[in-house]
Amino acid sequence: CDVLAIRTFHHSNLEEYAKWSSKPVINALTDLEHPCQALADFMTIKEEFHDFNDVVLTFIGDGNNVANSLILCGSLLDIEVRIACPKGFEPKPEIVKKTREILKVQNKLLITNDINEAVKGANVLYTDVWSSMGEENKDKDFVGFSVDSNLVRKASEEAIILHCLPAYRGKEISDEVIESDKSRVFKQAENRMHAQQALLACILS
Ligand code: NVA
Repeated sequence: CDVLAIRTFHHSNLEEYAKWSSKPVINALTDLEHPCQALADFMTIKEEFHDFNDVVLTFIGDGNNVANSLILCGSLLDIEVRIACPKGFEPKPEIVKKTREILKVQNKLLITNDINEAVKGANVLYTDVWSSMGEENKDKDFVGFSVDSNLVRKASEEAIILHCLPAYRGKEISDEVIESDKSRVFKQAENRMHAQQALLACILS
């Protein structure tokens, strides 16, 4: 083969594979990062707002793989990214450190346990499952961190809704919100295909 895409759990397994591989290795999801998802997410945001100048992206949920890639990729694109998570679920310090080293303006990253503070003025609301693949059920830790109509009303009027899927309706996102005219979740899912094709084209050209 010419290139490998690996979707696994421990990030260290991916690094080990990449270390010994003579071919490029793509991270298709690990417990630490989900960069391919972030490519499709920022493509979807760009399609919506045309540029990233006034984008305020608020992620609500677990500060793990998806959140980590959003803050890292967001810092490369100079976008304001806020993470709202329960205490104990903040992104790992080494990811925050790396993000802050890339960021030109430090106040473009906010990590808070206050969901209302994070949502105010945001024009992209993004959420992910409460219990990631291979984890025990963590529903009780995330009570109050649902993206529902009440929360959406606190964001910018033009706010769009994203979710990396699969979604658990009635938990991290309500049925009403994921099906609303603000939802770009299914466009975002389609964009995985375009973004990943572009990534392969870059790697193989
Ligand atoms: N945080 C989720 C992302 C799924 C695309 C998980 O790791 O299961």
